[in-house]
Amino acid sequence: MTYYLRQCQMLLNKPKTWLITGVAGFIGSNLLEHLLNLNQRVIGLDNFATGYQKNLDEVKKQVSLEQWERFSFIEGDICNLENCKAACEGVDYVLHQAALGSVPRSINDPVSTNSANISGFLNTLVAARDANVKSFTYAASSSTYGDHPALPKVEENIGKPLSPYAVTKYVNELYADVFARTHGFKTIGLRYFNVFGKRQDPNGAYAAVIPKWTAAMLKGNEVFINGDGETSRDFCFVENAVQANILAAIADEDSKNEVYNVAVGDRTTLNELFKALKVALAENDRYCEAEPNYREFREGDVRHSQADISKAKRKLGYNPEFKVITGINKAMPWYIQNV
Ligand SMILES: NC(=O)c1ccc[n+]([C@@H]2O[C@H](COP(=O)([O-])OP(=O)(O)OC[C@H]3O[C@@H](n4cnc5c(N)ncnc54)[C@H](O)[C@@H]3O)[C@@H](O)[C@H]2O)c1
Repeated sequence: MTYYLRQCQMLLNKPKTWLITGVAGFIGSNLLEHLLNLNQRVIGLDNFATGYQKNLDEVKKQVSLEQWERFSFIEGDICNLENCKAACEGVDYVLHQAALGSVPRSINDPVSTNSANISGFLNTLVAARDANVKSFTYAASSSTYGDHPALPKVEENIGKPLSPYAVTKYVNELYADVFARTHGFKTIGLRYFNVFGKRQDPNGAYAAVIPKWTAAMLKGNEVFINGDGETSRDFCFVENAVQANILAAIADEDSKNEVYNVAVGDRTTLNELFKALKVALAENDRYCEAEPNYREFREGDVRHSQADISKAKRKLGYNPEFKVITGINKAMPWYIQNV
């Protein structure tokens, strides 16, 4: 049995109370499903800014009635401190996922991004500290590496942010660090690298590349590649991110007040991704003949991204189970059914 499975077994034997902010979103709802399957008690907070009731309804179908009854949902805004305080009551572990994602959204509307991602983060942090929770794990981002050219990305070497979104995620790390110094409240930041999987929203101007392309391929629409297609990313299947969250939540004190890369440690170009999605669709008897349309590079995007995940392996016991292709194959049936 792997270290991670042993930790899951331990939680099954001794259930805890978790708060997931952003529970109606993509990563939040996957965390919810996993924790309910481990018989945990979960409080969820979301204002449906980019999340959906249908994500919660889907989780309900994936768990037993008894497990679902261990979930309580608060419709509320992390920009409201009272909402955060109510959500933190009696909580052991906080998994803070709520934020406005997307680099282009933050360029178009920096004020909303700043308010959810910085003020909302600070409210959640304060509420969690005041509630004396056992741990606080938050969604940081690989965008914090900004213009630093080194590959793979190592936690301590970051460059200048390339977007307002990246600024907000870096500010989260600064606040987290300063709360450890000033209040002794130690947290863990997980720098996610392009997470993908079921329930990631394929719609809207700010959709992420995998759901957006898959939906376009399924509908017979054009697929656009920003740039020459040689831009690369370390795509991380959502179940790896779930694993990282659970391990971070129960990590010992020595592993806290740190940030960790959460990825696979591989690099896939957009051209390779395009081909991989076509193959995965074909394996599900959906054929896409289209070739990609290349257009301008997108403002604020980093050129290459690949994580060094040795720190998370060493200090959290993180061991990503799913490579990009395995993840795509697992996610594809959901897209076919839901797009
Ligand atoms: N998906 C990725 O590849 C990726 C990469 C790096 C970091 N992240 C971070 O991971 C977290 C989860 O991202 P996701 O991909 O699941 O996005 P998502 O948009 O699907 O989920 C975010 C959730 O937060 C909720 N939310 C937003 N503002 C809120 C507010 N003011 N109050 C309460 N709820 C609010 C939304 O309604 C949504 O349900 C975010 O913090 C994001 O910045 C994601």
